Amino acid sequence: MDKKIYIETYGCQMNVVDSEVIFSIMAKEGYKRTTSMEEADIILANTCSVRDNAEQRIWGRLEVFRKQKETRPDVIIGIVGCMAERLKDELTKTGKVDLVAGPDTYRTIPEMIKEITPDKPGINVLLSREETYADILPVRTDKNGVSAFISIMRGCNNVCSYCVVPYTRGAERSRDPETILAEARDVFAKGYKEVTLLGQNVDSYLWKSGESEVDFPDLLDAVAGIDPSLRVRFATNHPKDISDKLIETMASRKNICDHIHLPVQSGSDRMLEKMRRRYTREWYMERVRKIREVLPGCGITTDVIAGFCSETEEDHQATLSLFKEAAFDYAFMFCYSERPGTIAARNYPDDVPADVKTRRLNEIIELQNRLSLESNQADVGKTFEVLVEGPSKRNPQDLCGRTGSDKMCVFPGEGHKAGDYVNVKIESCTSATLLGTITEQH
Ligand code: SAH
Ligand code: SF4
Ligand code: F3S
Repeated sequence: MDKKIYIETYGCQMNVVDSEVIFSIMAKEGYKRTTSMEEADIILANTCSVRDNAEQRIWGRLEVFRKQKETRPDVIIGIVGCMAERLKDELTKTGKVDLVAGPDTYRTIPEMIKEITPDKPGINVLLSREETYADILPVRTDKNGVSAFISIMRGCNNVCSYCVVPYTRGAERSRDPETILAEARDVFAKGYKEVTLLGQNVDSYLWKSGESEVDFPDLLDAVAGIDPSLRVRFATNHPKDISDKLIETMASRKNICDHIHLPVQSGSDRMLEKMRRRYTREWYMERVRKIREVLPGCGITTDVIAGFCSETEEDHQATLSLFKEAAFDYAFMFCYSERPGTIAARNYPDDVPADVKTRRLNEIIELQNRLSLESNQADVGKTFEVLVEGPSKRNPQDLCGRTGSDKMCVFPGEGHKAGDYVNVKIESCTSATLLGTITEQH
């Protein structure tokens, strides 16, 4: 009988790719992937530590996994990823996990598993300066076969004061561009139509070999050069590293999607300084203007944190006014969550009361919903090239897919299927979706 492995993935897209890497490593050991926990010999949660609620969820899942042990004592239960890295001791102390593996140790999982005994879990959370899993072709787990994610770098060298990622993922390292190109060519040959290049800070990608250097715009250009029908996206960026060269490279290739995720975090210079973001509001807005000038129609999305340490009403108003000025197309919005061990946790009291954080967050969400609606309304009457992803979730007779600017479109799609490019004329919208019909002309 085949042995089976089941993985639940939490957190960012990088964890999704990491789970695919683990499937690939375990496949070599004879493990097949399963989507049913009940039939798995190994049950893993690939975890996130970025906010407290992400971790709380995992503690809850661990109890559910434990139930499997009651009837199948040989099943192996493991926590991998960022929370494994951060909470190695707490996790092993509970006696509820057999395996604890940090993000740079996945190659050693087969070894660890062999050494597990009922009273000795397998643990490895060593961070590496080199590991990029460059030679491992992930086992793709996405369902539509249209859009693939490729990890191009790992770790982060920024020390934003609120953020746990540098501690859980270690130092930044870029992956050999030849292996990235080989992977992109491989997914294209397999029929994928879109690749997203992933890293915590892709715009600081840099590969040095002898005299030659490959920076992020060079890499992006090379991946886009594989075929004009392969769409290329990337995420996420640190505003301080968004260069003119990158913006111009995007403008020079039609198949590099016009979308930039540019996390701002706050509109107040005092907060940005305290967050150690290393840019000012003015500098950020200059980048936004540059993007809009060179790439008209480019989608700009962001991340923001409400209620960071000592944030005043005035700081909060500055965030609201920056949102209006930047007119983001979409935003991921969070309440500040103190992470133990970070610079902020060690130096600044988490002193904005929870109800104030929530109220401020809600004000940002309300504003952004309005901005998203306005942004979508401005697209009504226009025609976009859309890559079909599959049936629409809400209305399965319709198809859905994204514009280059990363907006979701829904349209009647008779005769078309996932992976087709279609021109969609937008007729109406909500704040989250463009609605239209397929048209011949562009
Ligand atoms: N590398 C990316 C972000 C990774 S984390 C970048 O720098 O843009 C994704 C988002 O989570 C961050 O942009 C931030 O908005 C949010 N985040 C990170 N730490 C947080 C914390 N302690 N509390 C609340 N939100 C946080
Ligand atoms: Fe965290 Fe800042 Fe690195 Fe992003 S750039 S992962 S927010 S430390
Ligand atoms: Fe979470 Fe780790 Fe990603 S903390 S956001 S899973 S890098």
